Amino acid sequence: MDWGMKNRLSKIIKPKDGHTVMLAVDHGYFMGPTTGLEKLDQMVNPLIPYADVLMPTRGALRNYISPDTEIPICLRVSGGTSILNEKNLLHEGIIVSIEDAIRLNVSAVAFSILVGQPFERDTLLGFTQIIDDANRYNIPVLAVTAVGRGLGKDAKYLSLASRMAAELGASIVKTYFCPNFEKVVDTCPVPIVIAGGKKIPEKDAIQMAYDALQAGAIGVDMGRNIFQSSDPVSMIKAVNAVVHKKYSPKEAYDLFKSKKK
Ligand code: R5P
Repeated sequence: MDWGMKNRLSKIIKPKDGHTVMLAVDHGYFMGPTTGLEKLDQMVNPLIPYADVLMPTRGALRNYISPDTEIPICLRVSGGTSILNEKNLLHEGIIVSIEDAIRLNVSAVAFSILVGQPFERDTLLGFTQIIDDANRYNIPVLAVTAVGRGLGKDAKYLSLASRMAAELGASIVKTYFCPNFEKVVDTCPVPIVIAGGKKIPEKDAIQMAYDALQAGAIGVDMGRNIFQSSDPVSMIKAVNAVVHKKYSPKEAYDLFKSKKK
């Protein structure tokens, strides 16, 4: 692996412990002003000190995030549908050229694959195109798997989608936590982070992050369970403590409650 790819990956996966807290705020690319991100800058800026990586769209980056920011970026580069398009939701293609990603000085790019959907082929071919483009410049690609409805988020499906992503060239895979998650980790040759999914009680989201780490995930790429929390700053602090400070779920939840306004 070339120095450049290793250097960019070290911005995403922290060398000190091989873990990462990625803050996903790319939801607007198909959800518009989703709850919590109505004023993205006001939500995100207080969270940045506790995140290792920010995952925005290019428009969010250019319109809401200061170019002075030191946080590395994992840029959303697939899209093409909205939540209004129920039948074709997440039938995605490339929405950002690798040249624009380079202009934005990103450390990685993220692309969704929809294994199991009727249009899976389009997303997989788009994914491999962006991998070829990114590899020319030693930019790692994070595969976003299983976002969307009716895909069955069990170990059998998630290990299929995660392994396919790795086989097709992903450097990191984002998927969801599930029972027997060890199987997903053990059958995937590249690091895995978990998405948070729809908002659940903070105690449950903290437990999920802990369980995922215990099962071999290297961290989280979490959005709604942080920016839709009753206290987003306290929540990202708690998640960070689980990922980087070996806090137990109870310790982390106590931290959340103690910091909550
Ligand atoms: C969908 O909007 C994106 O792929 C998100 O990056 C991903 O779902 C992680 O966000 P959340 O934790 O809100 O599911």
